[in-house]
Amino acid sequence: MSTYAEDNRKVTTRHLIEMKQRGEKISMLTAYDYSMASIIDQAGMDVILVGDSASNVMAGNITTLPMTLDQMIYHGRSVTNGVKRALVIVDMPFGTVSGDPLKSLEHAIRMMKETGADALKMEGGEEVIPDIRKIINAGIPVMGHLGLMPQSINKYGTYNVRAKDDAEADKLINDALLLQEAGCFGIVLEKIPAGLTKKVSSQLAIPTIGIGAGPDADGQVLVVYDMLGINRNFSPKFLRRYADLHAVMTEAVQNYIKDVKAVDFPNRNESY
Ligand code: KIV
Repeated sequence: MSTYAEDNRKVTTRHLIEMKQRGEKISMLTAYDYSMASIIDQAGMDVILVGDSASNVMAGNITTLPMTLDQMIYHGRSVTNGVKRALVIVDMPFGTVSGDPLKSLEHAIRMMKETGADALKMEGGEEVIPDIRKIINAGIPVMGHLGLMPQSINKYGTYNVRAKDDAEADKLINDALLLQEAGCFGIVLEKIPAGLTKKVSSQLAIPTIGIGAGPDADGQVLVVYDMLGINRNFSPKFLRRYADLHAVMTEAVQNYIKDVKAVDFPNRNESY
């Protein structure tokens, strides 16, 4: 059985649903710029998310709330310029999908036109269903996002695991079914108990993509700066570091400084 990663077809939202049907896990990683997106795409990633985590790892903000539509459009366009095969999804930033469906649609259309992305992601359940319906009815594919929703951090007051109690778990299942019924092609589940992920994923025909949500989601997503070990300030239990680029980059930069100081760089061959 070949996987989608092994052929060169452009990944579509339809492919993701087919991957769930045939039990092939979906790989997803964030990117925010052209060069990183090119590497990730050429490595064979199924989905690239231009997350509003750009606020944290690119801009150094504590939360994702400061991100603006214009800033997300800048990152979105930079990523699509570097991607040929992966499905590119851009996050709708805080305040742009918030209970006024016509306004939300206006923001979503701008995002699609100006980034060239394939789809949009938005946080929230029942509260944003009218907005999501409006956007999907206009022909824009939408991925939902439930569980820990970082744009609501000021409401939660903590980044702890969500939906540990029955009431919140029941609401999450209900929200997931509503998002599917509204036409979403997938849902990110962030930082919820693994058992709940298994339950939700088995009830949905559309794929779930987990982050800190255990192995039973239909796919997994991580923030690229975290999994490459560039960002050392974030070490949750769910994060696996696949490299220590902080150390690699620090050593490279220190060697450059040393060579400049010693007048060893540039040498004759590096000069005109
Ligand atoms: O903004 C982001 O990077 C995200 C992922 C963590 C799912 O929403």
